[in-house]
Amino acid sequence: MHKKLEKKLASEPLNFESFFSEKALQMKASEIRELLKLVETSDVISLAGGLPAPETFPVDVIKKIAQEVLTEHADKALQYGTTKGFTPLRLALARWMEKRYGIPMSKVEIMIVAGSQQALDLIGRVFINPGDVVIVEAPTYLAALNAFKYYEPEFVSIPMDHDGMRIDILEEKLEELKKEGKRVKFVYTVSTFQNPMGVTMSLERRKKLIELAKEYDFLIVEDNPYSELRYSGEPIPPIKHYDDEGRVIYLGTFSKIFAPGFRLGWVSAHPHFIRKMEIAKQAVDLCANPFGQVIAWKYVEEGHLDEHIPKIIEFYRPRRDAMLEALEEFMPDGVEWTRPDGGMFVWVTLPEGIDTKLMMEKAVAKGVAYVPGEAFFAHRDVKNTLRLNFTYVPEDTIREGVKRLAETIEEELRKV
Ligand SMILES: Cc1ncc(COP(=O)(O)O)c(C=O)c1O
Repeated sequence: MHKKLEKKLASEPLNFESFFSEKALQMKASEIRELLKLVETSDVISLAGGLPAPETFPVDVIKKIAQEVLTEHADKALQYGTTKGFTPLRLALARWMEKRYGIPMSKVEIMIVAGSQQALDLIGRVFINPGDVVIVEAPTYLAALNAFKYYEPEFVSIPMDHDGMRIDILEEKLEELKKEGKRVKFVYTVSTFQNPMGVTMSLERRKKLIELAKEYDFLIVEDNPYSELRYSGEPIPPIKHYDDEGRVIYLGTFSKIFAPGFRLGWVSAHPHFIRKMEIAKQAVDLCANPFGQVIAWKYVEEGHLDEHIPKIIEFYRPRRDAMLEALEEFMPDGVEWTRPDGGMFVWVTLPEGIDTKLMMEKAVAKGVAYVPGEAFFAHRDVKNTLRLNFTYVPEDTIREGVKRLAETIEEELRKV
C-alpha cells in the first residue's frame, strides 16, 4: 500500500459512521459479490455468478459499428443526450417489441436506462412509500429486493413452483391484504426463465395475474432479461402483451443479448409512468450513455440483434444440457432441481436440515462455488436451496463442478 495512504488509514481521525445517513448505515454489500471476490482468486469452479459468457459478445460487429458511429454520428454520440434516451433507439426498440412480442408500442412508451437495474431503483423512487406493500416471488432476484428495500416497502412473498408464481396463493394474499386495509402497489415478477429458479410463469397464470391486477388495482413490474435465451420449448408472450390498461411496467435489457458492459436497458410503460420515471432519472444521471445508445441503435436497426440471438442460444444450449445431465448423473437421492427451457440458472433444493450457507465453506474446500438460496428470499426463511449458473464456464467444467457439489452434499447428508 502507498505509504501516505497507510498513514492516513492508521490514524483514522474521522468518525466515518457519524457522517452516513441512516439509510446508508443500513446498506449491506451484496453477499454474492463478496463471495465472488473470494472465488475469483482461487482454483474453485464458480457456478455462482450470473455472468454471460464473454465468447458471446459480438466484438467484431461492435468494432465496425463503433467506427461508423464515430465517423457519422460523433455529434450525437459524444454529446449529452435527452433523459428519455436516443430517439432512433427508442423507435427501433418499439418496433422490435412489436415484431417480437406482438405488443403495439410507440416511442413515448419507452425510456432508455443504464441497465434494468437502474429501472428497478427508479421504480422504487417513483412508486414506493414506506410501508407500501410490494409483492415479490419467493425466491426472487436479489438485487431487485435490495433496490426496493431502500424505499422501505413491506414485502409480501408468494411461493413459486415449476409454473412460476403461485397465483392461487397470490389471490388469497390479496384478499387478506384488502381486509387489513393495505394497498398493494405492485407485483414484481421475473416472468420468464426466472432468476434464480429458471422457471417460467405459465400462460394461464399470466392472464390471471392481469385479471387480479385489475380487480385489486395494482401494477405489475415485469422484469424480462432472459426470455430471448430459449433453448427448448415454445415461446410465451410477455405479460405486457396482455396489458390493455397500462398496468404493466416492462423492463428489457441489452445485457444478455448484446453485452452488459454497455449498461443499457429500457423501460416500457404507460407514458404517464415514463414521464415520472424520466424526472426521477434526471436527478440520477441526466441520461444513459449516449455513445452506447447510438451503437445499440445500429445493432438493433441493422438486424444484428436478430442475427446474434440464435448464436447465443447455440452457445448456451450445450451448457444447459451439460448441467442437467451432470445433476442427473451425480446428485444423491432427495435432491431436486429445476429444468429450465432457457435463461442462465438452475435452482437446487436439498433435503430439509441442510443449510447451504453453512455448506458453502465445505463446497469451496472441494473446489466449487454456488450461491446459497437464502438471500433470494425477502424474508430469508429458506435455508436448503442454492442457485447454479450454467452460462459462464464450459461444459466439462460444469460437469466437474456439479460432481464436486454432489460429493459435498453427499457428505452433508450423511450427517443429517
Ligand atoms: C432479473 C434481473 N433483473 C435485472 C438484472 C440487471 O440487469 P442489467 O444488466 O440490465 O442492469 C438482472 C441481472 O442479472 C436480472 O437477473
